[in-house]
Amino acid sequence: ALVLHVTGARPNFPKAAPVIAALERRGVRQLLVHTGQHYDRNMSEVFFQELGLPEPDLNLGIGSGSHAAQTAAMMTALETVFLEERPDLVVVYGDVNSTLAAALVASKLGIRVAHVEAGLRSFDWTMPEEVNRVVTDRLSDVLLVTSADALVHLAREGVDPDRLHFVGNPMIDTLLRLRDRFDGSRVVAELSLPTTYAVATLHRPGNVDDPTTLARMVTALREVGDRIDVVLPVHPRGRQQLAASGLFDHPRVHATDPLGYLEFLGLVEGSTLVVTDSGGIQEETTVLGVPCLTLRPNTERPVTITHGTNRLVTTEDLTQHVDAVLAGGGPAHGLVPPLWDGAAGERIADIVVAGLPG
Ligand code: UD1
Repeated sequence: ALVLHVTGARPNFPKAAPVIAALERRGVRQLLVHTGQHYDRNMSEVFFQELGLPEPDLNLGIGSGSHAAQTAAMMTALETVFLEERPDLVVVYGDVNSTLAAALVASKLGIRVAHVEAGLRSFDWTMPEEVNRVVTDRLSDVLLVTSADALVHLAREGVDPDRLHFVGNPMIDTLLRLRDRFDGSRVVAELSLPTTYAVATLHRPGNVDDPTTLARMVTALREVGDRIDVVLPVHPRGRQQLAASGLFDHPRVHATDPLGYLEFLGLVEGSTLVVTDSGGIQEETTVLGVPCLTLRPNTERPVTITHGTNRLVTTEDLTQHVDAVLAGGGPAHGLVPPLWDGAAGERIADIVVAGLPG
């Protein structure tokens, strides 16, 4: 039997690593396909090295483009691969365009699809990721769920309960496995950061693509910089706009290139608070116990609010929340969500193996 994994964008890699390792331990034949959606060294290759992922068997080299152009190019290339390799199962991760492309192609070829991180919902259809989540789940045969709310969403959408598996969070497997190697010291030294600093990330289309919204974000982040030094690893999306906005002229806002996994999480672990619009970082800060202020009107990861350290904030109330954290009144380190225990990859592998032809 053959299991084929499709990855492509940065957030896929820490989710795929524990699943691939656990299947390897069970002696399952696997292929790893990289669509090439992310191709900069510090968006992709660094993660493969640090996470101990095997080299992709195939990199489709699709790269950037409009949603339609990018997704279509991935689909065409993946169809050829799936027809050649005839996998018994295609495993897809998260909510990026690579995830959707692979799920569509596999399902039309009659190949079973397993979706890792199924059932998350922001209910915000302006997010490309929400479209990817809903469609991918609809096409999936095996839905692997990280949190209980996702089970509720999928049940409400009429998914056959036999397809649902609450397995926990494989991205947290990676975090727990590598935690003692997290190291932000190079960045701290290079930027001469004081011991108290914040980490910020901003890349979501809803925040950086529209100039008016971006200007509000920039003003709010500068106000954070008036209170605490801010390190901002800058995603390629929005890099030019952010640089042109004058944000980096603030003496306490320190822009860096995108960081590798170990450096980024080292910085986060040592920080006083995080300001972000990322999905995964809401989960990572919850486990690390670092207060997280999420600059979004909604989250597909509510367990990070009910159990963890996350708060949804706006550009208007961001500084109030920062002041509260600095005064010691921020979101406390609550509970780690159920099954975010380092063993999700093992559970996923058991389910995958049980579904493979003898
Ligand atoms: C994608 C995901 C998003 C995820 C993010 C994490 C979709 C729809 N979105 O968004 O959910 O949070 O990845 O990073 O799949 N670029 C580079 N180098 C790269 C990759 C991208 O310069 O290696 C630039 C290009 O200008 C590109 C832009 O970033 O056009 C956007 O890249 P793309 O992969 O289309 O989406 P992301 O914004 O990265």
